[in-house]
Amino acid sequence: MSTYSLSRFPPHQPLETDAVLRALVQAHRYLAELKGVARTIPNEGLLISTLSLQEAQSSSEIENIITTQDALYRYQIQPQGADPVSKEVAHYAEGLDVGFRQVRESGLLSLNTILDAQSMLEGNDAGFRKTPGTVLKNESTGDVVYEPPAPNEIAPLMHRLESFIHDTSELDPLVRMALIHHQFESIHPFYDGNGRTGRIINILYLVKEGLLDTPILYLSRYISQTKADYYRGLQQVRDEGDWEPWLLYLLQGVALTARHTTGLIEQIRALLQLYKKRIRDDYKFYSQDLINNIFRHPYTKVAFLELDIGVSRATATRYLDVLAADGILLKQRLGRENYYINHALVKLLFNLPEMGQ
Ligand SMILES: Nc1ncnc2c1ncn2[C@@H]1O[C@H](COP(=O)(O)OP(=O)(O)OP(=O)(O)O)[C@@H](O)[C@H]1O
Ligand SMILES: [Mg+2]
Repeated sequence: MSTYSLSRFPPHQPLETDAVLRALVQAHRYLAELKGVARTIPNEGLLISTLSLQEAQSSSEIENIITTQDALYRYQIQPQGADPVSKEVAHYAEGLDVGFRQVRESGLLSLNTILDAQSMLEGNDAGFRKTPGTVLKNESTGDVVYEPPAPNEIAPLMHRLESFIHDTSELDPLVRMALIHHQFESIHPFYDGNGRTGRIINILYLVKEGLLDTPILYLSRYISQTKADYYRGLQQVRDEGDWEPWLLYLLQGVALTARHTTGLIEQIRALLQLYKKRIRDDYKFYSQDLINNIFRHPYTKVAFLELDIGVSRATATRYLDVLAADGILLKQRLGRENYYINHALVKLLFNLPEMGQ
């Protein structure tokens, strides 16, 4: 029987061991590089919209909600009549967006923000669990590994967590992020979506702490590729009272993901410059807003362009058709509407290699 207690939070034992300190140095170095490279992209919305959709896909995959990027983008083009799976993944991206706006506006990561993000991603207002009996099982054996607290303990524990999120303490913010994630998953406040909400909280916390300007570090791909380590790390804290493996696991995820995302953003930037030059040299209708449009919406359509560059429907159609005729965009039909794919960008975003260890 484990003596682990959720009410002893944060833990009193020393956390920043030599190994953790070394991992922190790496993680911060790559994170700072990522923050810097993101600032070289002129339009911040561009990275947020493309990377957050990718994150939505990876994060939902952990729950075995599998959709293709093609279906996801088609959902953006025509939300009505989309398949329920893509809808659910799109809700994740919306939850993240709602959270980011609130954090940016208030500088806080409040309990209300967490509730709003969870409600958006689940598409209901159920709020905290109200019935007992929730247990967490080992995925392969089906054995119960952990029983989260009873419903009446959830609100006080979540309020304490909210205070901890806003405390200033000696602990490094990345260590704090790992503690917050562990505590949140252990409270397991909701009927469903605890994993996904917890992953959104990680990202929002990085923004709140100023380690990133915008939500662009997405750990879900790392977690989904190392799922067994993720579950083991969470559980080990409780069974053995040992925080170090969990901290090292998450810090390594930050370092690897930040390094990987920096590389991806550099490639996006190069492609952006290439397209800009090509379109500026060859087309009188070039504008920065047009470029932003086809990078913000890797699948774009006439109505999006009309809105972004303020031209008539006929004009927007003509521009997109010309770019498609010249092979810069790929034109496809969806029901009664056409959409235009920035194929080179889509390839960058979705043909990703496994993240090296
Ligand atoms: N032993 C454990 N201790 C603490 N947290 C755990 C443990 N096992 C699983 N979890 C957490 O519970 C989450 C799953 O809970 P839930 O089904 O509510 O979330 P989800 O978002 O729907 O699913 P998923 O995280 O699989 O996408 C896991 O992602 C993990 O964060
Ligand atoms: Mg679930």
